[in-house]
Amino acid sequence: MKESMTQEAKRPLLSEGKKRASLGEVERIFLPSTTVNNWDQIQKFRFKDDDLLICTYPKSGTTWIQEIVDMIEQKGDVEKCRRSVIHHRHPFIEWARSPQPTGVDQANAMPSPRILKTHLPTQLLPPSFWESTCKIIYVARNPKDCMVSYYHFQRMSQTLPEPGTWEDYFENFMNGKVSCGSWYDHVKGWWKAKDKRQILFLFYEDIKENPRREIQKVMKFMGKNLDETILDIIEQETSFEKMKENPMTNRSTVPKTIMDQSISPFMRKGIVGDWKNHFTVAQNEKFNNDYKKKMEGTSLTFRMEI
Ligand code: A3P
Repeated sequence: MKESMTQEAKRPLLSEGKKRASLGEVERIFLPSTTVNNWDQIQKFRFKDDDLLICTYPKSGTTWIQEIVDMIEQKGDVEKCRRSVIHHRHPFIEWARSPQPTGVDQANAMPSPRILKTHLPTQLLPPSFWESTCKIIYVARNPKDCMVSYYHFQRMSQTLPEPGTWEDYFENFMNGKVSCGSWYDHVKGWWKAKDKRQILFLFYEDIKENPRREIQKVMKFMGKNLDETILDIIEQETSFEKMKENPMTNRSTVPKTIMDQSISPFMRKGIVGDWKNHFTVAQNEKFNNDYKKKMEGTSLTFRMEI
């Protein structure tokens, strides 16, 4: 079984132009081919009980929750949080793009307690995850805004294939033909895992609506207790406006050949409901019907606007 999966994993798919990354497949989930090629190392990764894993479907507010978690960890010390760019502070376990060290190498070199990041759906996690008791913070974002954000990210980032037209992307997203697979399966899988594991399940829309309340939830989950003045700093420093200006969070240090922010900024809009500027009436209807079917039977609900 494993053997055939590995063979399947090696098959490159959706190859794009020269510079662009291509996608491969593991267990029918699309992932960057560089990740697929490093799959054995990723699967052998050992989680530790005192790890904290930040998990999201792409474009759900990963960078935002990472900055919140780091600010809590550093007790609101802004200078400490500027020690390096956000994508180097928390190893991204399935990251594999030479010449950079892989996410696994970075995590292995990190002293405990570690804070790690993943976009993997539950079924693709390294087996040691299920043996460990590490805590997880999952952030979910409504699928319509997630799709729009992902589309613009793929337009500007060479780390993924070209998204094609918006019309094509709309279909591909609904059919899970994007990196990390189906949004629907991802959120449902992690929602279910909540019954077995210590997972703080957060929503982008809730953080947007009341950042202070959600920051406090994260703080408690991390077993910290910070006073109100520190929480004031964290709330201010993790606002969209501040993070958009902050070179440690806005990806401005990433070369233009990899992320061309003149096409679309990494910190793009940071709002709930931008999908209304992209979805046609017909697309919205089609999406809603499909959503109902795919989300039937789950207690998980999303707010498409606040
Ligand atoms: P938009 O493209 O809709 O603007 P990720 O970090 O998972 O790649 O998610 C990126 C999305 O989160 C982008 O969404 C980005 O603008 C948004 N984001 C990042 N920091 C944010 C913040 N402090 N407040 C609100 N949204 C934020």
